[in-house]
Amino acid sequence: MIEHPLTPLTADEISTAASCVKAQSGLDDNAFFETITLDEPDHDEMAAFRANGTRPARRAYVCCYERSSNRTLRGVVDLGAERLVSWDHVPGVQARIPPEEFVLSDAIAKADPRVVEALAKRGITDLSKVLIETWAPGNFGHADEVGKRLAYCHCWVINEAGDNRYGRPIANLHPVFDLQNQVVLRVDDFGVVPLPPDSAAIRPADGLRRDIKPLTISQPEGPSFEVDGYHVRWQRWNVRIGYNLREGLVLHDIGYEDDGELRPIMHRASMAEMVVPYGDPTGGNYRRNAFDTGEYGLGVALDSLKLGCDCLGHIHYFDVCAHNWDGEPTPIRNAVCMHEEDYGLLWKHTDAKTGQFRAVRSRRLVISSIATIGNYVYGFFWYFYQDGTIGTEIKATGIPFPTAIPPGEDPKYGAMIAPGIASHVHQHSFSYRFEMCVDGDRNAVREQDFEAAPLGPDNPHGNAVAILERPLTHEAEAAREIDVTRSRSWKIVSADRTNALGQPTAYRLVPGQNTLPYLHPESAVAQRAGFMFKHFWATRYDRDELYPAGWYPNQHPGGDGLPRWIQADRPLEGEDVVVWYTLNFHHLPRPEDWPVQPIVYASMHWMPEGFFDQNPALDIPPGAITE
Ligand code: NI
Repeated sequence: MIEHPLTPLTADEISTAASCVKAQSGLDDNAFFETITLDEPDHDEMAAFRANGTRPARRAYVCCYERSSNRTLRGVVDLGAERLVSWDHVPGVQARIPPEEFVLSDAIAKADPRVVEALAKRGITDLSKVLIETWAPGNFGHADEVGKRLAYCHCWVINEAGDNRYGRPIANLHPVFDLQNQVVLRVDDFGVVPLPPDSAAIRPADGLRRDIKPLTISQPEGPSFEVDGYHVRWQRWNVRIGYNLREGLVLHDIGYEDDGELRPIMHRASMAEMVVPYGDPTGGNYRRNAFDTGEYGLGVALDSLKLGCDCLGHIHYFDVCAHNWDGEPTPIRNAVCMHEEDYGLLWKHTDAKTGQFRAVRSRRLVISSIATIGNYVYGFFWYFYQDGTIGTEIKATGIPFPTAIPPGEDPKYGAMIAPGIASHVHQHSFSYRFEMCVDGDRNAVREQDFEAAPLGPDNPHGNAVAILERPLTHEAEAAREIDVTRSRSWKIVSADRTNALGQPTAYRLVPGQNTLPYLHPESAVAQRAGFMFKHFWATRYDRDELYPAGWYPNQHPGGDGLPRWIQADRPLEGEDVVVWYTLNFHHLPRPEDWPVQPIVYASMHWMPEGFFDQNPALDIPPGAITE
């Protein structure tokens, strides 16, 4: 028996799901499997499981694309009964682009005489050195594209060293690829730009540095975590590792053991969608806006991590299982990394008179996975701290999208990063989704601002700081923006439990670096990624509201997801609340980002606020006793 209802699907379960769909759905032979992943039990099912051990049926969510009919279909397989319990055509949508489609256009486009001719015009005749990549096309309403399953391709020449396929960009050449019929629909050619010189080797010209000594992390007594299947206990934290083919790493059942009681904080946490709109309107560049989660899938793109390279220290790896487009399981070994990290000082007090001090070091539990999508690499890191803080961080690396620029020209909407190579201004917008359960399912949302109080009899010296807290009681008013002038943040409070001071127990969402989109709100991508325009959203839990740009962002005309859901304006006070946080990371690439970008970080935190009665980390042994 599978150990827990939230355990990711096994290889056998994926095979069972695929064979049930093949046998029972009526799909023809050239349909492919976009997604086979755990159909997670909802909150009621999990509540019953926790209360009396009632196991929900083990189910797989399956989505397929049928080429012959250009239809996207979805359903649910009851794995125990080996039965397809629902199966529906979803009209007017396109399935995600699986890895097999992502590489499909390369060989076919290279055999198309129009593409060969366009490359020859640029002096490129050795097609074995060319990369033609299948990017989701967006939806711009062009008449010859309506209703077709398409890709908008970008082209490069591999560098001399052979280690950078994106090394020499071919500007202005975009085969438009019909993915249904697997033919080039047309070739968009906006004019020849000379191939830039080769500066792309991902290795130094003068050899590796020799002055770096070994750094060893030693845990002679082993790690402080306990692992049981996908369940983890560490320093009073409880968390369950989950996996979803689309989102990749998912965390379930986050709770903290307080005086023997396991107090729930979040049912589920994930990075649920992301989009990277590029800011250059010329040629075909306006079509570049990658929804890496919803258009391609992060879970299917997870790296198999390597000890000593991706991870250092005493590592526990979790394996997961993805699948190929035939529905065959494709296990990903070491897909999720977990380890402890020293994180500097946690707290310190020095007695000025005696010189005695107490200082304890902070240790954090790190749970992470890394997804490689084309040229770019995203690390998704989750942190649990001994003071009750939960953090999440993006680590962005890989090769910034390069394009060629004619000699002597300056890019208006980007920056030169190498001779003849520009990279366009863009944003990486991440949407985190948190199913909150701070001390239970009945939660509420509060917004806090600060401002200078007016001068008056109560504030004669003008130093008074007004602390403004207001409830966000309904979904429409809970779509909010960060305001640095007011130190704005939000907290999720328990509707049922108070601390020793009588305050509701709570967790506060503490934003980090962020910005707003610089897209015009009427742009096609803004319509499809409405979640970008607010930093904070709160909705009432609905098991079908998983992805903030909707279930089918690929070629979607827009309007789906969060902006649509909150029109219902459901109440939030004392309800089962889901919080969505948008982290917009702005990026104008630098020369130092070429040929591969040192990691840039973007993060946010959840801090306990009145969840505990005092500092919960007083009991951490000091590194060295001074008394
Ligand atoms: Ni970037």
